[in-house]
Amino acid sequence: MQLKENISLKQFNTFGIDVSAKYFCEINSVDEYRELLDSKTISAEKKLILGGGSNILFTKNFDGLVIRNNIRGIEIVSETETHVIIKAAAGESWHNLVLWCVANNYGGIENLSLIPGLAGAAPMQNIGAYGVEIKDVFHQLEAIDAHTGELTMFDLNDCHFGYRESVFKHKYKDQFLISSLSLRLTKVSSKTIYHYKTEYGDVKATLSEMRAYDLSLKAVSDAIIKIRSSKLPDPKVIGNAGSFFKNPVISKQQFETLVMKYPVMPSYLQKDGTVKVPAGWLIEQCGWKGKVVGNTGAHATQALVLVNYGNATGKEIWNLAMEIQQSVKEKFGIDITPEVNVV
Ligand code: FAD
Ligand code: EPU
Repeated sequence: MQLKENISLKQFNTFGIDVSAKYFCEINSVDEYRELLDSKTISAEKKLILGGGSNILFTKNFDGLVIRNNIRGIEIVSETETHVIIKAAAGESWHNLVLWCVANNYGGIENLSLIPGLAGAAPMQNIGAYGVEIKDVFHQLEAIDAHTGELTMFDLNDCHFGYRESVFKHKYKDQFLISSLSLRLTKVSSKTIYHYKTEYGDVKATLSEMRAYDLSLKAVSDAIIKIRSSKLPDPKVIGNAGSFFKNPVISKQQFETLVMKYPVMPSYLQKDGTVKVPAGWLIEQCGWKGKVVGNTGAHATQALVLVNYGNATGKEIWNLAMEIQQSVKEKFGIDITPEVNVV
């Protein structure tokens, strides 16, 4: 384990923001993490756990210790004839974990293909895409208390999962290192009936375009990869952190008033009667889609994705986000809130 000083974080965040960390350390095991917590040099420093840096916007240098999680390993914890519980160490690449499950015929996370980042951040955000959220297959996670070094288990109820929300974003913010994640997945075979989730958006149409008439985990995963690659910018090419804002949820009454004025406004009715409206549509209607502002902009195929065209600072991206937020508020009276973690 090597403690580095004054390190640029540019290659460690998908926005590609060039800020520095006072201290930086990569950990390969829980023991190394505990060693760090005990270390006299840095025990009093402010700490930030970093996974793949794909949901974070750095607006200034980090005056403390950035801990890059590199704890690896995937194992099968238990299995029955129909289900399997797998445990992934938090430093495993999320997408590689999905591909591993698909290759082993374990169903449940194929719709979450190609989401960047590491397994440890997936429950933190309750990542979601194409009709599936991690909470749907979540079994348990292990986390290490940043103050005591003690291991705590969290089950589904402890995590308080919501839309891109969990207890780790609020009550326990910066209090735990999530060290592993266990998922309960379905064994898919010709003998079992498995309910593929293909209702969302373009999934069905893409499957038929690909002539995937016999559904399989691989076919669904490939279709999701195809859809995502066609509209989301690749962070290796253009810096971004996926959706910058969450899709806002408004009251039925506010929706009914708005839809009179904007009859084509897309919407998703929620179980509790409220209505979710796509932030990408609201932002596009305000004229931001494809617009370039200095080194930043709202992407041309997905207005909800704010991008760094090269040398943007975190502050520039944040200022653009605030302008967009204000214009959506002025035009529609709707508050959109950031989905990315702003540091
Ligand atoms: P980071 O950005 O490194 O960290 C995010 C937050 O989690 C930070 O606050 C960090 O401190 C904390 N954290 C990270 N690891 C740990 C840990 N082990 N213990 C405790 N706290 C931790 N998200 C979706 O939900 N759906 C999508 O479809 C989606 N598409 C995306 C597409 C693109 C092109 C990009 C760039 C991003 C997308 N995202 C999406 C967002 C992002 O990939 C996810 O939120 C992902 O889970 C973040 O993982 P990460 O390891 O990069 O987290
Ligand atoms: N839309 C527009 N203009 C745009 C973008 C979108 O009109 O520029 C409209 C689309 O036409 C569509 C609707 O908005 O009717 C929804 O668009 P899309 O299916 O692309 O999904 P989204 O709501 O923009 C959400 C997630 C994504 C996730 C996709 C697929 C949030 C904040 N974002 O995006 O997650 O991949 O659904 O499930 O919920 C992320 O979290 O980083 C992320 C990329």
